[in-house]
Amino acid sequence: MAKTIQSVKGMRDLLPEQTTQWQFLEHTLSTILTRYGYREIRTPILEMSDLFERSVGETSDIVEKEMYTFTDQGDDRLSLRPEGTASTVRAGIEQGLLYNQQQRLWYMGPMFRRERPQKGRYRQFHQIGAETFGMAGPDIDAELIAMTARFWDALGLKNIRLELNSLGTPESRAAYRHTLVEYFTAHAAQLDADSQRRLHKNPLRILDSKNPAMQDLIAAAPSLHDHLDDESQQHFAKLCNLLDTLGISYTLNPRLVRGLDYYTHTVFEWITDELGSQGTVCAGGRYDGLVSQLGGHATTGCGFAMGLERLLELREAQQLQAAPFQPDIYLILAGGAAVPSGLQLAEQLRSALPQLTIQANVGGGSFKAQMKRADKSGAAYSLILGEDELAAGQIGLKAMQGQFEGQRSLSLDNELAQHLLAAIQA
Ligand code: HAM
Repeated sequence: MAKTIQSVKGMRDLLPEQTTQWQFLEHTLSTILTRYGYREIRTPILEMSDLFERSVGETSDIVEKEMYTFTDQGDDRLSLRPEGTASTVRAGIEQGLLYNQQQRLWYMGPMFRRERPQKGRYRQFHQIGAETFGMAGPDIDAELIAMTARFWDALGLKNIRLELNSLGTPESRAAYRHTLVEYFTAHAAQLDADSQRRLHKNPLRILDSKNPAMQDLIAAAPSLHDHLDDESQQHFAKLCNLLDTLGISYTLNPRLVRGLDYYTHTVFEWITDELGSQGTVCAGGRYDGLVSQLGGHATTGCGFAMGLERLLELREAQQLQAAPFQPDIYLILAGGAAVPSGLQLAEQLRSALPQLTIQANVGGGSFKAQMKRADKSGAAYSLILGEDELAAGQIGLKAMQGQFEGQRSLSLDNELAQHLLAAIQA
């Protein structure tokens, strides 16, 4: 036998049992997004590599070591998208969606990062994200966060906490960066290798270190909040007031800096303790400078993205599973002559009863084998059409799960759909 080929490390197949859960998640979230006035945007999975270098940031972990980048036959340097914000902004500028306009957009799809795979962390993962443009005030930040809170309710998820911070304007962030470099340089001997590397490239990321040996040093570091200018402080205070009004609890986390470079002002993460180290299920914030940084007219932006694998793993941990797929009716076609009439009948029933799922037996098999398949399909009822039934102008109806005993006969006439519905709804 030829050698089999495996999927790429960190990239998974989703089997039918899982896609039922995915479809439930996608449907629930997209319905809420639509109810808040968001419209879907679909952008290509491949983009010019420059796009992510100029937005996510050249010194971010994502761009430095995690992107799938290659040069194509035309010498273009391309990357599989590691996230959706940059692509949405690129498309918004290119398609004229942003200038002098307000937009509420959402997207869904695979993202790619070559991270070390573990539970909750994959090399191909999926996000649903939302991006808003042209709304400068903290009211849109608050509305976005309220919408995410509604997601958790709709998905039945509990114990997800909101952490909030402000990174201020680029100017206040630059001033803070300077102070932070001074502080960490004075304590250079205590920095681990990762932090030493970040010291001049991306010192804010040192605050994000999970190394226990670094925690005291980080806790004593100067706080970003002391460096926020008045405008940033006001934006943040108003956001906190709005969240209080909306009854949304949060914790202020001055160490929350995020791994992507484009943020200004508000940043937030929704975190659970039930998924181990990969507990952030949703993250986002404001990126007021990004549109102009990518060549568009200055337009404010704010958004978030959720990791769908993590949300599904959390639903599993909290024992929340969508009902598995089961057809309502399995149509048994016993004997060759029953096949053409049976397939025709199945089409007629599907037209007449769009609310029912009807799975016809295809591929032959004895009556017993077909009955086994009907059982395995989980169908509540089987319809049995054999040569005898055809000759008598009848079809058998059998409850698979004991709703009624034995088998009933229904006439194969124009009223069959109504009689069938009445029989199974009784
Ligand atoms: P992010 O924090 O890089 O932000 O990713 C958002 C979410 O995607 C994470 O909180 C996590 O749930 C999920 N995620 C990230 N990496 C992985 C992975 N390797 N495996 C599984 N799940 C993962 C962004 O991507 C920003 N674009 C969010 C944003 C939108 N900010 C403003 N607008």
